[in-house]
Amino acid sequence: MKMKQRMLLYMSLAALIPSVSFKATPAELQAPDLYLMPMPKTITFDTGRLVIDDNFKAVLAIGEDSRLPASIVRFHQRLQMKTGIPLNFASSPDIKQAMLEIQCKGPGERVQSAAADESYSLEVTDRNARLIAASPIGVFRGLETFLQLVVSDDRSFYVPSLRIEDEPRFLWRGLLVDVSRHWEPVEVIKRILDGMATVKMNVFHWHLSDDQGFRVESRVFPKLHIKGSDGKYYRQSEIKDVIAYARARGIRVIPEFDMPGHTTAWLAAYPELASAPGPYQIERRSWGVFDPCMDPTKNIVYFFLDSFIGEMAVLFPDEYFHIGGDEVTGKQWDASARIRNFKVREKMKNNRDLQTYFNRQLLKILKKHGKKMIGWDEILHPDLRKDVIVQSWRRQASLAEGAHLGIKGILSFGYYLDHMRPASFHYQIDPLGKEAANLTEQEQERILGGEACMWAEFVNPEIIESRLWPRTAAIAERLWSPFSMQDTKDMYRRLEYMDIELDLFGAMHRKNSDRMLHRMAGGADFEVMKNFTDLLKATGYSTRRKARQYYSLTPLNRLADAIMPESETALRFEILVDDALSNQFLSAELIQQIQERLAGWQNMNDTLKPVIARSYLLEEAKPLSELVVDLSKTGLEALNYIKARQKAPEAWQKKALDLLDGADKPQAEVLVAIGPSVRKLVGFAADIR
Ligand code: ACM
Repeated sequence: MKMKQRMLLYMSLAALIPSVSFKATPAELQAPDLYLMPMPKTITFDTGRLVIDDNFKAVLAIGEDSRLPASIVRFHQRLQMKTGIPLNFASSPDIKQAMLEIQCKGPGERVQSAAADESYSLEVTDRNARLIAASPIGVFRGLETFLQLVVSDDRSFYVPSLRIEDEPRFLWRGLLVDVSRHWEPVEVIKRILDGMATVKMNVFHWHLSDDQGFRVESRVFPKLHIKGSDGKYYRQSEIKDVIAYARARGIRVIPEFDMPGHTTAWLAAYPELASAPGPYQIERRSWGVFDPCMDPTKNIVYFFLDSFIGEMAVLFPDEYFHIGGDEVTGKQWDASARIRNFKVREKMKNNRDLQTYFNRQLLKILKKHGKKMIGWDEILHPDLRKDVIVQSWRRQASLAEGAHLGIKGILSFGYYLDHMRPASFHYQIDPLGKEAANLTEQEQERILGGEACMWAEFVNPEIIESRLWPRTAAIAERLWSPFSMQDTKDMYRRLEYMDIELDLFGAMHRKNSDRMLHRMAGGADFEVMKNFTDLLKATGYSTRRKARQYYSLTPLNRLADAIMPESETALRFEILVDDALSNQFLSAELIQQIQERLAGWQNMNDTLKPVIARSYLLEEAKPLSELVVDLSKTGLEALNYIKARQKAPEAWQKKALDLLDGADKPQAEVLVAIGPSVRKLVGFAADIR
């Protein structure tokens, strides 16, 4: 058997990328079309396949952890969803019948630590498969990989014969979800955790308090959730349920209680903690940043926080506790004679020193309750080293600067999902990017990983998933897979597949987006509507804030809320245009395809007009639909010059560029996504000699 085995590829993962490996590989040895995301560390291919049919059964051969049986049941259920094949996994497990044998060599930790072993190896032959891991977490990760490996062809569902050795590049691969600015019910949180597990993320950072809401039941200080939440808070039983759900999937839960700023919701309940007299109310007017702030000079603040953190330290078992620390305006501190005098007395130079004083008190309280501190990069200060993790959000360089000083850090700069950047943007941000190039190996090890951030100004339970998926999978890959994974085109190939896979396993990003579009179309022809909205992309936080005044209760039911952050149709069109223009002989077939698409979009308006006309929610889409027509027309004109190999006249160029410049500006907080591709056609037509 060994003799027959042929190693097709041993990676260095760059080798898996089709454009590289296929060229170097004889045609008959082509690697199967794999859609793994995140890509494992090493894969060795063999030539056979393990057929997945109704005989398939995964059996736990070795392993004590109580999470394992449930994870194997879930695995079978999801394999059923993926294949539609009913699997008999309820009967008593018999290792002789195992098609997938699972060996978990070590126990799980009572509370999953940042250092948890997530490695696993997976061997698949044409007769069976074996998954071996040192810990239950490694088993969870390996089962996800196995599920992703299941593909089908004209013969069957199968997993290609191969051997995978895998472990993450970074130990901290997180997702922050802000539930303060808009609330998310437990069922949504659980779906998010499912998606995180699918892409092997391991830290759920729960942003539980901010100016707009305090979202946890406190039995010690019940006014916090009663006065600070409009009734939208998690009961402690629900928190425990979510933590258990996350733990079953190998995900840690880290609570964030942001302080001393971003605390209006606390101060609505306990104004005596503030630096200026109240009363305070939950912020509903806008998104901030706001001035209300805890008073670091008052002892009662620390008595309060000692009791509160004591309560929360028991509820949230993770070793880390996030204290926020971002965006303290200092205005309340500057306005208070008492606080100014305190600073003078304590020889503090500025408010940063005062906040560090606050953080040092917090550090003592956290230590007393067995917790380590994590906070935003504002807490970076020479007096606060070694014991903290800094979450870098304002500049990537702060991460390397901290590491140089001996401070551990994680990266969120560049991973803000609410900015609505494309997956390709996030994919090229690396925690060990050029900013870390001059660090020693030991210093680099202090950079633990990163977290995607889902701030909630413009998301609610209906919208959040379409802002998370599939883009977060690209960040998950950056944090798990080897640095050598850099091919954006291949990332998108696999991301498109993950998009469907996530949907299949229950994520609501696609379904909710469609539901919102249905609502807007009001029963009119949905296909017509969808053909149009597939050409659009939603804009992010800064565009939307500038566009109009939003309140907490402003309905998020418009086009800008319903459509996706990226247009797959526009992405495919761009690839087509790139392919066509990259070859000086201009394939007639590709040109024809471009022409057909543009012509279809140009003619869209006749059917679209009545759909738009009957919906008040779509009224603002009118100029966007006209822009699609104008851009398509311009693209077709450019194509005519290109086909005739005739340089486009100056006057036409100017008109086209004016249109394109206009298309770069959002309308109704939405962009037409085909603009950049049309610009390429126009540029090509202008450059013909
Ligand atoms: C932050 O975005 N204020 C951490």
